[in-house]
Amino acid sequence: MADYSATRDRVHHYFDHSATKVWDRLTSDAPVSRIRQTVREGRDRMRATMLSRLPDDLRGCRVLDAGCGTGVMTAELATRGAEVVAVDISPQLIAIAQNRLPAALAPRVTFAAGDMTDAAHGKFDFVMAMDSLIYYAAPDIGSILDRLGRRTRGGIVFTVAPKTPFLMAFFTLGKLFPRADRSPTMIPHAPETIASHASGKLARIGRVSRGFYISECLEYRP
Ligand SMILES: C[S@@+](CC[C@H](N)C(=O)[O-])C[C@H]1O[C@@H](n2cnc3c(N)ncnc32)[C@H](O)[C@@H]1O
Repeated sequence: MADYSATRDRVHHYFDHSATKVWDRLTSDAPVSRIRQTVREGRDRMRATMLSRLPDDLRGCRVLDAGCGTGVMTAELATRGAEVVAVDISPQLIAIAQNRLPAALAPRVTFAAGDMTDAAHGKFDFVMAMDSLIYYAAPDIGSILDRLGRRTRGGIVFTVAPKTPFLMAFFTLGKLFPRADRSPTMIPHAPETIASHASGKLARIGRVSRGFYISECLEYRP
């Protein structure tokens, strides 16, 4: 897991320092540039796609929001009645998520700053990981799915960056001209490659492509 911790450290630094404000704004209702507006719309569509994989009524279900960020998915899950464990490696984003969560939902949500795969978070009925595995290499995603899968009864619904010509060009350019800061690089994946690194079953759920937001929803069953 050497790659995993190196990537997680970059992600931690990026979201806890360089990108905290941008992410705060993108995930709020505040006005954003037209490009970011397409990302916001794409992400709204993706969140709905992911949520469609879970029962409407989540009362009695324990759900992990893995890499919860500012907690948009967390609030949706709690609204449906789930008991949510919302984990993020960035304490700054956890603080924003805690502040934003409507008081009425607070009793159903446990926030934790730390690693999403930590066994101390317990067992789950479902796991949601929206855009939180997009920086990891396929073997790392496979082992995250296996580690979480051992403690999850139902599906792990997550997203990856698909191998489109645009995202591959972006990725290749990023490798040719690495950025001076420590920002993590998004790695496009073919679902088959991810499946070859995990022991359970992987299904394609659907792709969302809206402006600069291109993301593929997959579901893993341990
Ligand atoms: C692109 S953001 C998405 C946030 C949120 N899921 C959403 O869709 O609004 C990715 C998030 O995953 C978190 N993350 C990435 N790897 C993580 C790990 N190993 N453990 C916990 N959080 C992680 C990051 O800190 C970041 O907040």
